[in-house]
Amino acid sequence: LDMEFDLDPSFINTKYECLRPTTLESKYNQCLVELLEVIEHARELNGEERNALSYRHAIAALKAYPRNIESYVEARKIIGIGLKIGNHIKEFLTTGTILEAEEIITSEKYQILDSFSRVYGVGYKTALKWYQRGYRCIRECMKDPYLTHVQRLGLELFDDFQKKMSRQDIQEILDILDKTIKTIYPDCIITPVGGYRRGKEFNGDLDVVVSHPQETVTNNLLKDVVEKLIDNGYLKHKLFYGQSSAKNKKDASSELLSSHKNVMDNLDKCFCAFIQPSTQICRQVDLIIAPYSQYPTAVLGWTGSKQFERSLRNYAKKERKMTFASHGLFLNVIPRRRVCVTSEREVFDILGISWVEPEMRNC
Ligand code: CTP
Ligand code: MN
Ligand code: MN
Repeated sequence: LDMEFDLDPSFINTKYECLRPTTLESKYNQCLVELLEVIEHARELNGEERNALSYRHAIAALKAYPRNIESYVEARKIIGIGLKIGNHIKEFLTTGTILEAEEIITSEKYQILDSFSRVYGVGYKTALKWYQRGYRCIRECMKDPYLTHVQRLGLELFDDFQKKMSRQDIQEILDILDKTIKTIYPDCIITPVGGYRRGKEFNGDLDVVVSHPQETVTNNLLKDVVEKLIDNGYLKHKLFYGQSSAKNKKDASSELLSSHKNVMDNLDKCFCAFIQPSTQICRQVDLIIAPYSQYPTAVLGWTGSKQFERSLRNYAKKERKMTFASHGLFLNVIPRRRVCVTSEREVFDILGISWVEPEMRNC
């Protein structure tokens, strides 16, 4: 048996999540994973981003770990599990739970901050601000005199946006997008990405990359598609419209983008509130437009998970002296040089990473 243990391929124990397959749930350590996720989220809500990140690494490592963890010593051999998280695991192995996580879950402040942070366009800073102003529920936040346009929409659409979409719900919306877009541009390529592509049964939103084999067609694609969707009565609100590139960086009102500062790309995009006909529920749909030459990186960059993308960017930068972004792969020479790619697989090949199926990118 020990033999088998030692034969684990070394790529499983790595600081780069993108080098190993990770399923949606751990077959072995899911209970532990869920307790650590609570602590991770609490750190995030507390603005302790660095600390949260170290939990995310540990959680990803545990999700990918191929057997039940049975001892502290065993846990500490895993890259990403240091003293602190090791001690949580020790507690878990002896008591069956982690007291700190249990306390967080039952804390009223955590529950409120958590619900505020689920409002579209709201990050931990705004959530905390609302809490400090004495608001304790979504209804009270709506009376805040300083709401941005997107925050107001986020609050109004809160109940709808909280409702998860089944894969069938998503298929319904995809069919509409497909029909609508193809009436204008029959040769468009419409690719669902995000959690849906990673095989999640229920999704909070739908992310879609739209491209076209003719490079110049994408110039007006976003405008044309959005117009058509509005005309047809599907698109109710634009939550974001444009490019989340450097030129929008100063738009401080948008926590939406600042919370994604390391995943900014300069692809055209529209984050929409979309009416699903069969349920009349307002759904969150992220439309991303990619010129054909950037289609492979756009699909790879928007499939996620966030942790997978983060590790991919880090790996490219630190191990390959390259930059990976949804709008392209670049060589970090001066001046920066674009590396042309024709498929998602080719990006893995160039980076020297084994192919990871989308369903295995759930770190
Ligand atoms: N992403 C991005 N830029 C953004 C927002 C998201 O590049 N401004 C990427 C994220 O890195 C993620 C993917 O697009 O990998 C999908 O983002 P999101 O919809 O937020 O997450 P999902 O993994 O789809 O999870 P969920 O089911 O909650 O939507
Ligand atoms: Mn998504
Ligand atoms: Mn999204």
